[in-house]
Order: sequence, then C-alpha cells, then structure tokens
Amino acid sequence: MNVLVTGGAGYIGSHTVLELLNEGHEVIVIDNLSNSSKEALRRVQEITGKEVIFYKEDLLNKQQVDKIFINHSIDSVIHFAGYKAVGESVAEPLMYYDNNITGTIYLCEAMKKHGVKNIVFSSSATVYGDPHKVPITEDFPLSATNPYGRTKLFIEYILKDLHVADESWNIALLRYFNPVGAHKSGQIGEDPNDIPNNLMPYVSQVAVGKLKELAIFGDDYPTHDGTGVRDYIHVVDLAIGHLKALKKLNSNPGLAVYNLGTGKGSSVLDMVKAFEKASGKKIPYKIAPRRPGDIAECYADPSKAEKELNWTATRGIEEMCEDTWRWQSKNPNGYKN
Ligand code: NAD
Ligand code: UD1
Repeated sequence: MNVLVTGGAGYIGSHTVLELLNEGHEVIVIDNLSNSSKEALRRVQEITGKEVIFYKEDLLNKQQVDKIFINHSIDSVIHFAGYKAVGESVAEPLMYYDNNITGTIYLCEAMKKHGVKNIVFSSSATVYGDPHKVPITEDFPLSATNPYGRTKLFIEYILKDLHVADESWNIALLRYFNPVGAHKSGQIGEDPNDIPNNLMPYVSQVAVGKLKELAIFGDDYPTHDGTGVRDYIHVVDLAIGHLKALKKLNSNPGLAVYNLGTGKGSSVLDMVKAFEKASGKKIPYKIAPRRPGDIAECYADPSKAEKELNWTATRGIEEMCEDTWRWQSKNPNGYKN
C-alpha cells in the first residue's frame, strides 16, 4: 500500500513509518520539521534498509500538498502533523487553530480532490476532558480544557461531518493515552525542543544529567500514592495500532473511534521507580503544587481496539523505561549531535 504520513519525522510518526516499512508499505512523508529532524527518518531508513520518500513541506502550503497527491498514487493517509504543547496552545491559540485545524482541512481537501478517502487521525485522550470515572470507554462525553485539546475535538467533528456528507470515507480516530518509550535500537526516540513538559522525557533528562530534579505536580490526589495516574503506552505498541487501523480501513468500516492505551494506570511515583530500576540512576525529585488543568486519574478501556482491530499493547512500564533510557543515554542531545 502507498501510505502518506503527515508529521512522519516526529516522535510517533517516525516509529510508525518504521513499522510501515517493515510491513512492506511504500511510505511518503510530509513534514515541515517544525518539531522534528530529518535525521530521524535517516535512521529509520538505516534500521529498516528501506527508503522513505520525504517532502519537507508545510500542510498549509495547499499547492505543494496537491502536488504530492499528483506525484504519488496514495491509498491511505496517517495524519500526525500538528502542534501538541498544551501550555503553548494557551499562549498562542490562533497558531494552534490555524496549524492543526486548517492543516487538516487542506489535507482533506486534497484527499477529496484525488479520491483518497482513507485516513487515520491522531486524536488524544485529552478529548475526554476530566472523565467522570475510569477506565474510559469511547462513548464517554467529550470536552476540552485548552486550545490544543479543542483542536483535537474540532478535528474529530470535522472528520465525522465529512463521513456524514460522504459515507465512502473511512476514518479511524485514534485516541492515544500517554505515549512513551522508544524503538529497541535506541536510534530513534522522543526529542523535545526545549525543557520537556511531559513526565517521561523530563525524568530521562534528569537521569542523563541535563536537568537537576523532577518536580512532582501534587501528591494529594485520590490515587494509591497521591500522585497522578496515567495510562502510559509504549510508542511501538502505538505505532502497531496504526497499522491495524489501516488494515481495518480497507474493510470499509466508515467512521470508527478507538482508545489506544494499555488499560493500566501508573502513578508518577510508579514511573519514577520503574525508571530508576531500568537506568540504575537515582531520580532526585521534590513535591510541587498541582499543575493547573491536571486530573487525578486517566486510563483507557482498550477492549474495543482489541475486539475490532485485533490490537493490544504488549509492552509494560519496565520495557517503556528501559527503551526510553537506551535512547536517552545513547543520544543525550537527541538528534542534535
Ligand atoms: P511531534 O511534534 O513529534 O510530531 C508532529 C510532527 O508534525 C512534527 O514532526 C512536526 O514537525 C510536524 N508538523 C507540525 N505541523 C506541521 C505542518 N503544518 N505541516 C507539516 N508538518 C507539521 O508529535 P508526536 O508526539 O509525534 O505527536 C503526533 C501526533 O499525535 C500529534 O498530532 C499529537 O497532537 C498527537 N498526540 C500526541 C501525544 C503525545 O503525547 N505525544 C498524545 C496524544 C496525541
Ligand atoms: C499532557 C497534556 C495532554 C496531552 C498529553 C500528551 C496537560 C495538562 N495535559 O497530559 O493534553 O494529550 O500530555 O502529550 O499538559 N508530571 C509531573 N512532573 C512533570 C511532568 C508531569 O509530576 O514534570 C505529572 C503530571 O502531573 C501527570 C503525569 O506526570 O500526573 C503525566 O504528565 P504528562 O506527561 O504531562 O501527561 P498528561 O498530563 O497526562
């Protein structure tokens, strides 16, 4: 199959491109490299021994996006491209709405024009807002608490409307929980531009000596040890979920929504302990106030994906931490070496 991957040089994108190549697909990537490096794709090619067709282009550049569809006979699209930092989205909402939403509209317009109607979209558990209970199933009420989350929610609605208007579209909305970890090779992984906002990249930069100590945002939540609980999912399991979703689209399912999580909740302290064990490094930490907008607990009921996609996450938090550490210790400066 010829698969167009938007944002394919990014963290989840590069891991998915690797799995697509291993499964024998032709992969075309469009990425403006605003939050990634071409080096990630070079390494993916090195690991797989296969080639990726790469366009350094912005999705907002309509003509160039159209050209890609003219140049290649594309069967399906996996759409990762977008901005993802919650704090930045609060400070720069217009930039987020423009990039994430306009980018998706232009992509879908090009798809429509060229008769490509299969798309897998990167949504997020953030669309569940503050869930009334856990585990979360796909039919829970949707809401958003920040502009980033609203872009995910709006894009879900846009894609749902597209399917209402033309039922021949096949659309998979994948709601990721907390992606962490890295490919076993230690050659590709998460490479945040600045000081990481998310827990695991922060912890691994403390372990490698780039940051002094972790601030744990609150130890008074109603959880087993007082710290926030999340559903961490290995990025390779997540990548494989995309391949399963692509397969599903070929059976013309119409619109389908799936949680991609493990179904298990781990606290901040559970993750710190698992990381210390995996790395053999002590992670100094202090307890800090709760982070505004954070919720106590968030984990998936992933049984729909298991039943309909034949997909389950198989990698546990030990493996997530070992793989994160291999990547971080081999590449203390990420791709900037
Ligand atoms: P990432 O930033 O590593 O990857 C996104 C890629 O898109 C980057 O390579 C960036 O350069 C590219 N991009 C951004 N805007 C673009 C544009 N206008 N044109 C072309 N390329 C553009 O992020 P990631 O962690 O790999 O996330 C991938 C997707 O999954 C995003 O849509 C994100 O919102 C979503 N998601 C991520 C998480 C997470 O925790 N990482 C959780 C839920 C959902
Ligand atoms: C965050 C985003 C969410 C996004 C997700 C994946 C917020 C409020 N939410 O989710 O929209 O979809 O990332 O990109 O930003 N923690 C610390 N210290 C740190 C960092 C995190 O204690 O330095 C804690 C948090 O309070 C939370 C847990 O670790 O309990 C996980 O945090 P994080 O990795 O940022 O993910 P989420 O908050 O789940």
